[in-house]
Amino acid sequence: MPTRYDGVARTLHWAIVMLIVAQFLLGWTMPDIHRNTTPDGLIAWHLTVGATIVVAMALRVLWRVTHRPPPPPDDLPVPLSVLSRATHLLLYAALVAVPVLGWINASSRGWKVALPGGVGLPALSASGSSFGHSMGDVHSLLAWVLLVLIGLHVAAALFHRFVLRDRTMQRMLPWPAAADDARVGRRANDAGRG
Ligand code: HEM
Ligand code: HEM
Repeated sequence: MPTRYDGVARTLHWAIVMLIVAQFLLGWTMPDIHRNTTPDGLIAWHLTVGATIVVAMALRVLWRVTHRPPPPPDDLPVPLSVLSRATHLLLYAALVAVPVLGWINASSRGWKVALPGGVGLPALSASGSSFGHSMGDVHSLLAWVLLVLIGLHVAAALFHRFVLRDRTMQRMLPWPAAADDARVGRRANDAGRG
């Protein structure tokens, strides 16, 4: 029975973490957007990184629904396991909703949303649409909700690692845990001795 998320799930988790950090920094530092703003500079970067997040999240959701995650640690109390599942579900919802709302808003401004390399994504709302325009505010608001969820999630990961001292954190780390290394090392030594 595997004890860690598989390589694809771990790669997507950490790649998306880096993209989200970049996307918040861009969202906070790019110029204010008005009716006649053109999507240049940091705004263009926000759209390109955003398009990349859309595609990475689509792959991630597809991978998640077709692959079982490793079982939680045996001794995890039921309320904690319910809380963790609920937070993960809300994280997924926000990770899909925030980019899609930004994309709808960009389309309503007549802006092209494209991946690095120029592959364009279709427009999600008509240019000039007032619905698309108002989704810009919802996008900004939900970005704060996403940030709060991320804060709770990171606090929970550190709580597992340093207070409960269980294996939850190791399930998602990009490298095997030190204890696993030691075990592998011991096995290699035993094999050498035998
Ligand atoms: C999880 C991914 C994303 C995060 C965390 C994020 C975050 C942000 C933040 C913090 C702002 C500034 C809000 C403000 O100060 O008012 C913003 C604005 C904006 N973002 Fe995003 N964004 C994401 C994805 C996207 C995507 C995929 C697109 C489009 C393809 C996009 C397009 C926009 C636009 C057009 C605005 C300006 C909205 C307005 O002022 O009406 N964002 N975003
Ligand atoms: C942008 C920041 C982050 C986002 C959006 C995010 C999102 C997620 C999501 C959606 C899951 C659920 C995976 C699944 O079951 O399919 C997850 C799992 C996990 N994440 Fe994050 N994560 C972030 C940052 C971090 C950081 C900084 C850490 C470590 C300190 C971390 C540690 C973990 C761990 C250990 C799991 C597995 C939890 C378990 O096995 O129950 N994450 N993350």
